[in-house]
Amino acid sequence: MKDVYILGIESSCDETSISIVKNGYIEIATTTATQMDTHALYGGVVPEIASRMHTESITLVLEDILKKSKMKIEDIDAIAVTYAPGLLGSLLIGIEFAKVLAFVYKKPLIKVHHICGHIYANNLVKKIEFPTLALVVSGGHTELVVINDDYDFKVIGSTLDDAVGECFDKVARVLGLKYPGGPNIEKLSKEGSHNYKLPTPMNNDELNFSFSGLKSAVINLVHNESQRGNEINKADLARSFQDVAIDELIRKTELAIKRTNIKRLIVAGGVSANNYLRLELEKLCKKNDIDLSIPPLKYCTDNATMIACAAYPLYLKKEFSDLNLNGKSQEYFLNR
Ligand code: KG4
Ligand code: ZN
Repeated sequence: MKDVYILGIESSCDETSISIVKNGYIEIATTTATQMDTHALYGGVVPEIASRMHTESITLVLEDILKKSKMKIEDIDAIAVTYAPGLLGSLLIGIEFAKVLAFVYKKPLIKVHHICGHIYANNLVKKIEFPTLALVVSGGHTELVVINDDYDFKVIGSTLDDAVGECFDKVARVLGLKYPGGPNIEKLSKEGSHNYKLPTPMNNDELNFSFSGLKSAVINLVHNESQRGNEINKADLARSFQDVAIDELIRKTELAIKRTNIKRLIVAGGVSANNYLRLELEKLCKKNDIDLSIPPLKYCTDNATMIACAAYPLYLKKEFSDLNLNGKSQEYFLNR
């Protein structure tokens, strides 16, 4: 079969990223312009600034990737772009750019859901085999999914309120840590001990998650102690929070393994960059004889490589979009 080269574009939040991937799993080149330092000045992503920065960098990112890959757009088989979910203004910069490339160069356009991108990043490690369980943990999602085939998803557990990444970000903010919260909580927790007693979220045998109670417990603890004029040991609190949040992900993943009897687990989304989570998942999978796949750190957080990977099965199915494609700030990934 002829090799298929897909150019992927990701601009849903604060990274402008373009990548060329061959046959859905071989990365040819990727360039990512991150805006993290700018948003850190404001304590979080400022949507208007994000859109402007995408506009400024997207053509430069394309030029850079074509130079690195020594390819021309004429050599590409399809243009893939994240269409949902994310910041609408940011999404639209990538979408309009993708449409122009598809129109001018007469290439098929493929819309990719951001979370499907995180899932298919696993193909960069080794080809996903079905059926598999997937633990999806990002800033907007916390889900346990059974995947029976390409794009055949069945959600068996999801968060009833906050996503786990969102909870890391909120707790980081109340501890006065810089954006992005997750990596900074992880860093600080290395200096602390589990000395604060926090409630176990959803202390039952359901596969759903709930993180808002844990988040509120941390926020209340910080406020109460400061009102009493007591010092908080931030490292201990970061460690106690991280332990409880990650242990809950592990506990529910183990329940899902036992209920489904599926012997494979893939992990997806920004929180999978967390080293404590990675280590605990390794232990869990060893104990239960599960084949575990977690993308390397650089593919856990947002990037366009994963978008080009996720577009490949859609290319094979000829699931193309027309030039009316629009962005959606919220869209469940089963409705892709
Ligand atoms: O997948 P992602 O890059 O963007 C979304 O699609 O949401 O995930 C971002 C989330 C943020 O909430 C961030 O704080 C969290 O992933 N995150 C982490 C770590 N690195 C990123 N959470 C815990 N530990 C980390 N090392
Ligand atoms: Zn993401």
